[in-house]
Amino acid sequence: MNSHLDLIEEARGLLPEGVFQYVATGAGVEETLESAPAAWRRYLLRPRLPRNVTTVDVTTSVLGTPVTSPVQIAPTGFQRIVHADGEVGTAKAAAEAGSLLVLSSRATSSLEEIQAVAGPWWLQAYVLRDRELTAEIVRRAAAAGARALVLTVDTPHVARKARSYEFDTAVGTPLIPELATRDDLGVWQAPDVTLADVHWLAELSAGVPVVVKGILRGDDARECVAAGASAVWVSNHGGRQLDGAIPSALALPEVVDAVGDTAEVYVDGGIRSGRDVVRALALGARAAFVGRPVVWALAVAGTDGVRELLDGFREDVEETMSLTGCTSVAEIGPDLVTLP
Ligand SMILES: Cc1cc2nc3c(=O)[nH]c(=O)nc-3n(C[C@H](O)[C@H](O)[C@H](O)COP(=O)(O)O)c2cc1C
Repeated sequence: MNSHLDLIEEARGLLPEGVFQYVATGAGVEETLESAPAAWRRYLLRPRLPRNVTTVDVTTSVLGTPVTSPVQIAPTGFQRIVHADGEVGTAKAAAEAGSLLVLSSRATSSLEEIQAVAGPWWLQAYVLRDRELTAEIVRRAAAAGARALVLTVDTPHVARKARSYEFDTAVGTPLIPELATRDDLGVWQAPDVTLADVHWLAELSAGVPVVVKGILRGDDARECVAAGASAVWVSNHGGRQLDGAIPSALALPEVVDAVGDTAEVYVDGGIRSGRDVVRALALGARAAFVGRPVVWALAVAGTDGVRELLDGFREDVEETMSLTGCTSVAEIGPDLVTLP
């Protein structure tokens, strides 16, 4: 598996500076961005030995959808600015590799283009100031085959970023044409999203489960589940929103503890290896999602790049499981990690 740093350097050489910085940047002074990978490494692995690991099964499921590994694709906007394959390429790669795709509501490919190539996919959405348009987006996504709706709640406004960036938002075909008429999504997003919206969306999308993304506290997680969420997603938006926010790796145990068996828990932020994925599962996550690695892989080699990234993650998870004495993801438990 290519190291994440190699991928970044390759992507940097290929992308216009303004595009590279858009993907790379964090908010504020990038405290949270920097702390994310290091927070995973704080958890030291405690292998169970000796064990028979002749066969290791890395498959699992997310909200009932079978996946070939615990690594799925987090939503990242404007993928056509890094490669002509864009979200269509990412969707193809996810289908080929057997991972779940979460499409950003700022995707630069149409629903029809995605439907033509995608395996299982979820749509990420924000609650917009225009609640009727929000409802319309949910209906469209459900009709197009989205298996869940991911409501991102950590963006009441779009935070100022550390680095200046620029790119052409008019590239490709917008997934949601109404959003493409304005560059500044912040103008559209509701600053008054509450649990009532979670409840509203869970009712509205009947049959399509709602996942709440951006949760960092146990109490919030419990309330979202009580309001109708089927899963919560521990995330600080890849360090792009509240700078200084707790790293996902440190927030995850509290959320898992609060939610118990009532909902699935996912996590993203700084996950860069199979070791990190095993740590996340040991701490109670059902699946790990990756954001920037997918964008860098897409930039470097389009569809093939993303498929190779996912295959590489799967092999890396398998190796870590074998070396820690786990033959199935169900065997990855809290005893596998410890803090110094
Ligand atoms: C370039 C970029 C665009 C993103 N766009 C979205 C988005 O449209 N919606 C969303 O919920 N999260 C978005 N995110 C956050 C990711 O879904 C995810 O939480 C984060 O990237 C995970 O951290 P990682 O990049 O360290 O893997 C974006 C992240 C990046 C880097």
